[in-house]
Amino acid sequence: MSLSGKNILLGVTGGIAAYKAANLTRLLVKEGASVKVVMTPAAKQFVAPLTFATLSQNPVLTEFFNPENGDWHSHVKLGLWADAMIVAPATANTIAKMANGIADNLLTTTYLSMRGKVFVAPAMDLDMYAHPATQRNIETLKATGNIIIDAEAGELASGLSGKGRMAEPETIVGALANYFESDQPLKGRTVLVTAGPTYEKIDPVRFIGNYSSGKMGFALAEAAADAGASVILVSGPVNLATANPKIKRINVESAQQMFEACTANFANCDAAIMAAAVADYRPANIAGQKIKKSDAQMTVTLESTPDIAATLGKAKRSGQVLVGFALETENGLANAAEKLQKKNLDFIVFNNANEAGAGFCCDTNRVTIIKNDGQQIDYQKKDKHAVARDIIAQLVPLLNNKQQ
Ligand code: CTP
Repeated sequence: MSLSGKNILLGVTGGIAAYKAANLTRLLVKEGASVKVVMTPAAKQFVAPLTFATLSQNPVLTEFFNPENGDWHSHVKLGLWADAMIVAPATANTIAKMANGIADNLLTTTYLSMRGKVFVAPAMDLDMYAHPATQRNIETLKATGNIIIDAEAGELASGLSGKGRMAEPETIVGALANYFESDQPLKGRTVLVTAGPTYEKIDPVRFIGNYSSGKMGFALAEAAADAGASVILVSGPVNLATANPKIKRINVESAQQMFEACTANFANCDAAIMAAAVADYRPANIAGQKIKKSDAQMTVTLESTPDIAATLGKAKRSGQVLVGFALETENGLANAAEKLQKKNLDFIVFNNANEAGAGFCCDTNRVTIIKNDGQQIDYQKKDKHAVARDIIAQLVPLLNNKQQ
């Protein structure tokens, strides 16, 4: 589905075309989007919030807070949640407020907090639409990066005929789908991502593991899927969920299982990003029964696990891109550069395990990317999702260049 996995915020204002927004909600949901609806007070005069709540399967937001219990409806959170906002119908009044930064209701306030693209579908009488003030406001909205879905000509609610009818819901959904499609540089690509730790069994109740949370790998899977890729996520034991239909998750426990899942899938992938913290050693023998305590010293003999990244590096075809991670505690950049060469990677993402706000467990990371042509890019500390987008942004041109 063309809007699959997208969060769409529909802003409904007080025009007669508000009834068409009900059908628009239905179409957006049908295309796979998660939809939340915010209405201006005037919009409620035209269509009851219950209609939108039922169609979107989400509570409709109309006020800054619920007067019954004081529950705060955060316009900032809504603005961060939404991948795109569509104001449909957009009255002359709301367009004027948006163009001038007036924030006097939840819809206009949310507009000012939006990080994603905003689409505006004007709907009004022909003279209001043609008025220089409205046209000036529409130009201002265009100039500030909003996408105007132009009104259509036809019969208007006033009985007059002319330009001012809101574009049909199908046209609006088409505009949103086109926008997201052109924003999908990995469309048609398959990306393998490894994530999380591995557990290496000592006996039926114990294992050797590490503190990897899987957050970086999962953020990479999401970022690759958002960029249009089909993702195969091979994950060690983690406490994270995946709902994105573009991500096929394969759960594994040990390095050997991760190795098998990766080698079975790599040939069909365009790129692989090895974000997992794979155990380098495993017990040479797994005790069949729980090892009992005794006074004697205890020794567990370890043997090497297969190096997944190095194996894929050897198997890599000319069109494939292989990305590794290096989590280091000392001589970081030098060790990372060595791994880059040894494992035949295209670039390596170095992060420092000793740095606060970087590495395994937290939601942020600070990375340096070292490419195999020696180029080095230092990034600021940021949320792992933003780090993932930076990594995907480096992957895309490499993939395109290799396949030219
Ligand atoms: N890696 C892998 N398979 C392994 C070990 C590591 O695929 N058995 C991958 C990791 O996912 C990472 C890269 O190789 O992308 C580097 O991992 P890291 O643990 O930093 O390096 P090692 O090669 O294990 O070396 P060392 O532990 O000595 O630093």
